[in-house]
Amino acid sequence: MDFKRTDFPKDFIFGAATSAYQIEGHGFGGAGRTHWDDFAATPGNVVRAEHGGRACDHYHRFAQDLDLMADAGFDAYRFSTSWARVMPDGKTVNAAGLDFYDRLVDAMVDRGLQPWLTLYHWELPSALADLGGWRNRDVAGWFADFTQAILARIGDRVHAVSPINEPWCVSWLSHFEGHHAPGLRDIRATARAMHHVLLAHGTAIQAMRAMGQKNLGGVFNLEWSTAGDDSDAAARYDAIYNRFFLGGVFRKEYPHLVLDGLGPHLPDRWQDDFDVIGTPLDWCGINYYTRKVMAQGSGPWPHLREVDSPLPKTQMGWDVYPQGLQDFLVRTARDYTGDLPLYVTENGMANADVLEDGVVADGSRIAYFDAHLRAVQAAIAAGAPVQGYFAWSLLDNYEWSLGYEKRFGLVHVDFETLTRTPKASFAKFKSMLRPGS
Ligand code: FCB
Repeated sequence: MDFKRTDFPKDFIFGAATSAYQIEGHGFGGAGRTHWDDFAATPGNVVRAEHGGRACDHYHRFAQDLDLMADAGFDAYRFSTSWARVMPDGKTVNAAGLDFYDRLVDAMVDRGLQPWLTLYHWELPSALADLGGWRNRDVAGWFADFTQAILARIGDRVHAVSPINEPWCVSWLSHFEGHHAPGLRDIRATARAMHHVLLAHGTAIQAMRAMGQKNLGGVFNLEWSTAGDDSDAAARYDAIYNRFFLGGVFRKEYPHLVLDGLGPHLPDRWQDDFDVIGTPLDWCGINYYTRKVMAQGSGPWPHLREVDSPLPKTQMGWDVYPQGLQDFLVRTARDYTGDLPLYVTENGMANADVLEDGVVADGSRIAYFDAHLRAVQAAIAAGAPVQGYFAWSLLDNYEWSLGYEKRFGLVHVDFETLTRTPKASFAKFKSMLRPGS
């Protein structure tokens, strides 16, 4: 990973990303209960039933964490705001919550870091989950109110905003596969959540436009789908995972391979919502980690079966497949976004890191970043308008249903003492971004 800034286009930005529930410590500052607290409190959902109550205690240590961002020479910090911190019951403002994000954004600006805000990275207030959460169409209006409350306070300083991190995870992973809160496995709930998450996205974009907020985007997690047989299983997986969300937002249509299964379960008159869902954006963010090999399965729709693949795996068991990032950047520009700036808003790997004598030698993570940054360069060479790259993640953190076991950070966190130790991968970024420092 021996790049120089000049190996990337002029003004290309480098950043690192985190999210609120994964690092802040939700037990602090009067934050309300979230559906992740409920999910984690239910046996069998999360490794060791771990939750985000303390996490990395970023709530109290954010100055130190942002010092690390600045020390590495990053240009931008992608962070998220917790709905339940700002509105503990989902609707009423908690002044201490807004004050926290005000201090946090000031601290970024003080250090010369561009604040890249994600409004929702998964911690739905429990009070709204009680009302049906993402299954309830009213979520779009509640979310717009939350959006306005945040932007009225910090919108003057944030550089870029996206409403919802990874619509696929919010809807499919959480309502069909049941792996994330609220842990449902229900096709009808899934269809509604998939549509409502996009409706909430578009409603929030319109609310921010009306406030004069600039530089608004959407962040999609894409997973490459490789054919494991000669059926259309891989295309079906691609349609569910990737094309449904990009298609809704950028083409105002859903793929027929998804409608085949979900059509009967979508809310009435769903087609009427595309003008809101497809409100024009200023940029598109892509979170990319891996690929899957898919074949025809025997169960009900979507009839999918995952096939083993020979590729090397990360600590998550995910294939290392940088070609997918290159292909997605090129394909997204070609099929959906045209000249709109693209950003890699998350990319990184979990590794079974060991801290020894103050050092974490995470060579495999360095190799992962190296290969994926080369994929970004190849996509740019092929004409994709990629303007920035964010590593996931600044810190080891709460990896959702896998608890604190999976380490994605550039900085090691000891979850007993909360000591931060920059890893070798952090030093690599620093030598690229601040050579000779
Ligand atoms: C992404 C999430 C992020 C983290 C990484 C590993 O899907 O946005 O919070 O869990 O995966």
